[in-house]
Amino acid sequence: MKKFTILIMLATIAVSMVQCTPKKAATTEKSPSDKVADIKKNYTEAQMAEGKTLFEADCAKCHRLHQPEEHDIAKWENVLPRMTKRAKMDDAQAGMVRAYILTHAKMN
Ligand code: HEC
Repeated sequence: MKKFTILIMLATIAVSMVQCTPKKAATTEKSPSDKVADIKKNYTEAQMAEGKTLFEADCAKCHRLHQPEEHDIAKWENVLPRMTKRAKMDDAQAGMVRAYILTHAKMN
């Protein structure tokens, strides 16, 4: 009977150890340099230039123009979706602004 109790205890410990093992971190998130490479592949010079024009025209309406070099890519990816929505940009415009900003963002 004692053995049985010990067995149950060991089993409980084993189960809780398995449950507490952290799950493997998702590796799907692209690195900043992959993102820049994607942008350079997918956007033309003309689209980048339009992104810059839109950025300068629409991103200083509520606050000063926050230059791309002020933040790194991770920070921009966090802030930009909110801001392009605030600036009422459509997906194509937001894409071009993102392309311009990420290719000029602070590198770390
Ligand atoms: C309708 C007003 C409005 C427009 C248009 C707007 N912003 Fe903002 N922005 C805000 C407000 C409000 C904050 C502060 C609160 C926040 O971070 O959400 C802010 C904050 C920021 C910050 C600072 C975030 C931080 O944590 O330091 C950055 C960078 C920024 N905006 C960039 C942009 C860019 C780029 C655009 C153009 C795509 C843009 N904003 C358009 C209202 C706006």
